[in-house]
Amino acid sequence: MPMLGLSRGDRVISFGCAEGRLELALARRGVSIIGVDIVRRYIDFANDWADRHRLPARFVYEDMRTCRVPSPGGFDAALYFETLGLIPFDDDVRVLSTLRETVKTGGAIAVDVAEPPTSEETSRSSREMPDGDLILESSFQADRKLQHIDVKFHPKNSDDEIVLRETQTDEWEDHTGIYRHVYSDDDVIAIGERAGIVLRKVESLRSGMRMFLGFKVG
Ligand SMILES: C[S@@+](CC[C@H](N)C(=O)[O-])C[C@H]1O[C@@H](n2cnc3c(N)ncnc32)[C@H](O)[C@@H]1O
Repeated sequence: MPMLGLSRGDRVISFGCAEGRLELALARRGVSIIGVDIVRRYIDFANDWADRHRLPARFVYEDMRTCRVPSPGGFDAALYFETLGLIPFDDDVRVLSTLRETVKTGGAIAVDVAEPPTSEETSRSSREMPDGDLILESSFQADRKLQHIDVKFHPKNSDDEIVLRETQTDEWEDHTGIYRHVYSDDDVIAIGERAGIVLRKVESLRSGMRMFLGFKVG
């Protein structure tokens, strides 16, 4: 909260909020939240959690690329966390412009982006769950600056791996898993610039991530 200059009663909007972990944590500290995501089950989960804990948070099932600005200038801060690069460059510019419109003058726009992969090799990691292993398989095509992540599940007592699909954009509809454009720091700053936001890199709040912060002027 201090990094974004937030206090109790302030309003925050978050695009690509998924199941709203960060947003619900802010709501527990008295910040009023609007979250937007394109996966309905995330939105249902987040709203259910907010209702059960009587938190000041509302989550909306919408495509952030066509999302109408709820109360332009009415928010104290906007979050775009781990979502940049999941859509084409020009769409990211448009989405950040929309977020810029939502915040009041002086309001913060925070963008966090995963660290770029260090090699072209496919990496595979797994996490043990009660009824099997959740597997993350990532491959990086350096020439295209594109990372492909497959999320799979290996149930106990089975040799099969099930590919879990995440709904993303129509652009890559023929693929399983997630595609992500891998952007350098300069790329992120250039996207911000195109959207009218001067982003600067600040200390990241999460390991493996880079954090950029800008403020609406005028
Ligand atoms: C990696 S998650 C980020 C989750 C969360 N913000 C965080 O930092 O932990 C990216 C999210 O962006 C959402 N997303 C991707 N394309 C979207 C779109 N066009 N409109 C709204 N949400 C979208 C995905 O559904 C996913 O929940």
